[in-house]
Amino acid sequence: MTLHGKVVAVTGASSGIGEATARHLASRGASVVLGARRIDRLDRLVAEIEAEGGKAAAVHVDVTDPGDLKALVDVALERFGRLDVFVGNAGVATISPVADLDVEGWAAMVDVNLKGILHGIAAALPVFRSQGGGHFVSVVSTAGLRIVPTQAVYAGTKNAVRTLMEGLRQENTDGTLRTTSISPGYVRTDFSGNAELGIDPRAVGRAIAFAIEQPEDVEIGDLTIRPTRQG
Ligand SMILES: NC(=O)c1ccc[n+]([C@@H]2O[C@H](COP(=O)([O-])OP(=O)(O)OC[C@H]3O[C@@H](n4cnc5c(N)ncnc54)[C@H](OP(=O)(O)O)[C@@H]3O)[C@@H](O)[C@H]2O)c1
Repeated sequence: MTLHGKVVAVTGASSGIGEATARHLASRGASVVLGARRIDRLDRLVAEIEAEGGKAAAVHVDVTDPGDLKALVDVALERFGRLDVFVGNAGVATISPVADLDVEGWAAMVDVNLKGILHGIAAALPVFRSQGGGHFVSVVSTAGLRIVPTQAVYAGTKNAVRTLMEGLRQENTDGTLRTTSISPGYVRTDFSGNAELGIDPRAVGRAIAFAIEQPEDVEIGDLTIRPTRQG
C-alpha cells in the first residue's frame, strides 16, 4: 500500500485540512496539484513541499467556476501525466438559523460545497474514464450526521455531496471508480466553530491517505474522524 506515483489534486489546499493533506500526501510520495484562490499561499506551499523533495504544482482555482477545475485537472496531466485522485475539500460555512434568511450565505454554501464538487467531477471523471480508473475523495462533515440548529443549510450541502458520492459509486461498479466521503468533526483550522476541542488537521490528511492507499479493489466509502471528546 503506497501513495508513491499517485497524482492527487486537492481543492482548498491553501489552508487547514487541504494544506495538511497536501503536505502529508506529498511526504508519502504522491505528486500533488493544489487549487485555491489564495495563490500566494499555494506557491509558498509548493516551494516548501519541493524543498523537502516532494512534487507539487499550484493552480488558481475558484471552485464555483467549472473552467478553473478543468485547469486544475489539465495541470495534473501536463505536469505529471495523469490524475489518480480528486480530493474535493474546498468549503465554506455561514452558520445561522434558517429563519434568519441568509440567502447570500445559502447561495455561497451551495455554490462552493455542492456545485464545487460537481465541477470537480465534470473535470476529472472523463480523465478517470480514459485512464481506466480514478478516485473521488470528498470532505463532508459530521454536521451532516448529527443535525443541530444553525447548521441546517451547511449540513444539507454536505449531505448532498455524501449522496452524490454514493450515487456516483452505484453508477460505476465495474471496478474502475472509487468514491469516499470523509466526515471530520471539529478540526483546528480557521474554519472551525470549536478550535479548542478540534483535532490537528493532519489527522484528516492521514485519513485521506488511508482511503487512497487501499488496494484498487478496496473502497473506503465513508469515514468519520472527530475529537474523542466531541459530543
Ligand atoms: N474545520 C472543521 O472543523 C471542519 C469540520 C468538518 C468539515 N470541514 C470541512 O473541511 C473543509 C476544509 O475546511 P478547513 O477546516 O480546512 O477550513 P479552511 O482552513 O478555512 O479551508 C477552507 C479552504 O477552502 C478554500 N475555498 C473556500 N472557498 C473556495 C472557492 N470558492 N474556491 C476554491 N477554494 C475555496 C479556501 O481557500 P481560498 O480561500 O484560498 O480559496 C481554503 O483553502 C471544508 O469543506 C469544511 O466544510 C471542516
